[in-house]
Amino acid sequence: MTSAPNGPSITSLFITGASSGLGRAMVLEWARTGLRIGMIARRKNELQKLSTELIEMGAIPFFFAGDVRDKEFMNGAVRSFISSAGIPDLIIANAGIRGAVGTALELDQGEIMGVNYFGVQNTLRPFLPDLIKRKRGQILVISSLASFLPLPGAGEYCASKSALNAWCGSLRFDLIAHGISLTTVNPGFIRTEMTRNNPYPMPFIMDPREAARIIRKKSAKNPPVINFPRLLALSLYTLSLLPTSFREKFFVHLKRTGHPPD
Ligand SMILES: NC(=O)c1ccc[n+]([C@@H]2O[C@H](COP(=O)([O-])OP(=O)(O)OC[C@H]3O[C@@H](n4cnc5c(N)ncnc54)[C@H](OP(=O)(O)O)[C@@H]3O)[C@@H](O)[C@H]2O)c1
Repeated sequence: MTSAPNGPSITSLFITGASSGLGRAMVLEWARTGLRIGMIARRKNELQKLSTELIEMGAIPFFFAGDVRDKEFMNGAVRSFISSAGIPDLIIANAGIRGAVGTALELDQGEIMGVNYFGVQNTLRPFLPDLIKRKRGQILVISSLASFLPLPGAGEYCASKSALNAWCGSLRFDLIAHGISLTTVNPGFIRTEMTRNNPYPMPFIMDPREAARIIRKKSAKNPPVINFPRLLALSLYTLSLLPTSFREKFFVHLKRTGHPPD
């Protein structure tokens, strides 16, 4: 396995969903003097605040306020970043939404898929010709352990992340021949705006700074996939292999009692 350029050798980073939570924590985890950092999110004021912090740290921020679902905006932001800061060494497609916890009938159809799946495509596609020409680069895509199995009340979220993992796994094959690595990152629960009002138990929930540290450390060797925390990943993977009827009973019990069956 080759070593990824996420140490001091990286000179530029481009990341979506930088305005809060895990994205913000990853920006601060990687930030250092001279690092050029391109950031995308819709909340301009949050990007502005983070940019001020980055300048104080000696980094060189560029931010583009807009929506990852907007292909033209993303193409423009990528072109503008490349012309000012060069082709990034590291791209992190992190922007994502989970939507309200509820049944399929209550949720906005298509919105989650638009951000979590097509938004990632809109982020990566404009970079690919330049990355391929340069024959170097590292991509991290933030997915979720929710991609492992259909969780109740989160159908579109699980579907969007499962689709994302399938697309990324396939894209990795195409890119590896050109010297570009792609890692799909599947975190468990992280304490962010996304999970703030979750009404269900969130085992092994962690701070975004800890999650960012884990992602940086584990991504140094370009693995195809990073799953963490390990015990939750293993439990969900095991659950995904069990018969559907067992899984359904498990979730009914969990909803009723707030804890897994003994
Ligand atoms: N929190 C968890 O437990 C958890 C677990 C597994 C995976 N993840 C994944 O981690 C990633 C980050 O989530 P988080 O937990 O840090 O949640 P968060 O605090 O809500 O952050 C989501 C980020 O995505 C941006 N975003 C959302 N929709 C966007 C859009 N249409 N266009 C541009 N940016 C958009 C938000 O910025 P604006 O609102 O300013 O646009 C924000 O910066 C997501 O992909 C999520 O699925 C989270």
